[in-house]
Amino acid sequence: MPVSLDTIVSLCKRRGFVFPGSEIYGGLANSWDYGPLGHLLKQNIKNAWWKFFVQEREDMVPLDAAIIMNPRVWEASGHLENFSDELVECKKCHHRFRIDHLLEAKGITPKYDKEQVKVPAEVTCPDCDGKLTEPKAFNLMLKTFLGTTEDSSTTVYLRPETAGSMFINFKNIQSVTRRRLPFGIAQIGKCFRNEITTGNFIFRTREFEIAEFEYFIHPNDWEKVFEMWLGEIKRWWRDIMQVDMDNLVWHEIPDGERAHYSKRTVDVEYKYPFGVKELHGIAYRTDFDLSRHEKVSGQDLHYTDPETNEKFLPHVIEPSFGIDRMLLVALLEAYYEEDAPTSEEGETEKRVVMKFPKHLAPYQVAVLPLSKKEELAKVSKPLAQELRQHFMVDYDETQSIGKRYRRQDEIGTPYCITVDFDSLEDKKVTVRDRDTMKQERIAIKNVVEYLKDKYNN
Ligand code: GAP
Repeated sequence: MPVSLDTIVSLCKRRGFVFPGSEIYGGLANSWDYGPLGHLLKQNIKNAWWKFFVQEREDMVPLDAAIIMNPRVWEASGHLENFSDELVECKKCHHRFRIDHLLEAKGITPKYDKEQVKVPAEVTCPDCDGKLTEPKAFNLMLKTFLGTTEDSSTTVYLRPETAGSMFINFKNIQSVTRRRLPFGIAQIGKCFRNEITTGNFIFRTREFEIAEFEYFIHPNDWEKVFEMWLGEIKRWWRDIMQVDMDNLVWHEIPDGERAHYSKRTVDVEYKYPFGVKELHGIAYRTDFDLSRHEKVSGQDLHYTDPETNEKFLPHVIEPSFGIDRMLLVALLEAYYEEDAPTSEEGETEKRVVMKFPKHLAPYQVAVLPLSKKEELAKVSKPLAQELRQHFMVDYDETQSIGKRYRRQDEIGTPYCITVDFDSLEDKKVTVRDRDTMKQERIAIKNVVEYLKDKYNN
């Protein structure tokens, strides 16, 4: 049976993946803090993404740009004018909702047009059944002020996506790296949106991370490059994130529902416990962004092909990924409940095991001395320290060994190393595999190599 979101939320809190934000002050609506394990898992997902989409390719360069940019960036990109959701307000309780979400909940799938949408009579307030106002646009950018006065000349915005900074740095980057088309600029960073309807844990929050790249191409090449990136993205989900591909939905956005500048967009959706919803997307954005920045900044952003001397504005394919949504998917995919044998002959008990792909697991190995006794610590502590040079290591000497195995299963540690009293004699330890629960005696001097082999296969 698929895991419920509540089960994941409670495991995350209990084990230290994700905590409610500002909890000791009563929390802050839909803000979440990644605890020790959540941080490690997130970091591993970001590193894997970076390795796959940037490091292993010859056609990608990195960027780490400012979160706060000149507001004219958002004027050029259209965010100031158009980055809004259509909101309705209940005339009775004054709660506000996104009209597209209310329509979706009633199974009404409109050809959504912001100017013309009318609230059907059967759509009422989900909280008190009151009548709703007509929709009004609400800009999602989070404003703040630079300097000491709060007037409009100091208003700036926290970026709602990282893309803008890649377009405005295109010229700089292309000239210093002497890149020829096609090439991409990649970035991972925090983004902010004043979402009206948040919820479903870390699925939609106001502060989140995006990993995305702008891949600059000659306009004639867009169809084949789009296909190439779709293939790579499939490889990412199958081989690196190792998700069940049946849980993904490749949603080709039809004509009339795409952004006006996009000639092709595919939303990659996931079958979450709360429904099939967007995970991330890939869009062909034509030369919309560079042409807008050229117009608003007055700078020439054209590219000249060194072989043909053709001068043109590059077109762009943009794959964009939400890190927090990828982490949510990693948690949902990893969760298993199984019957596991206890120390009593023939008896079993339920074990919860997070079967993360090994390279994503927060800890790669746990060192568990059988008891707290000094003589065992003399072996287990130096072993843990040696392992730390190569792996993220957890060290746990409290509670029974059975309970410690269960804990490591629940946080997804692929290997546990037990140091027992025999270890003092035979200089060997027991290595237990998370998924098969099989145990092997390995010589202490070979443990690092043994684990390196496991991680390289
Ligand atoms: N530059 C393209 C862009 O920003 P987007 O679909 O608006 O596209 C990219 O955002 C991805 O960021 C989404 O596919 C989703 O994974 C993630 N994302 C967007 N809004 C989010 C939110 N409020 N909370 C968490 N993740 C979000």
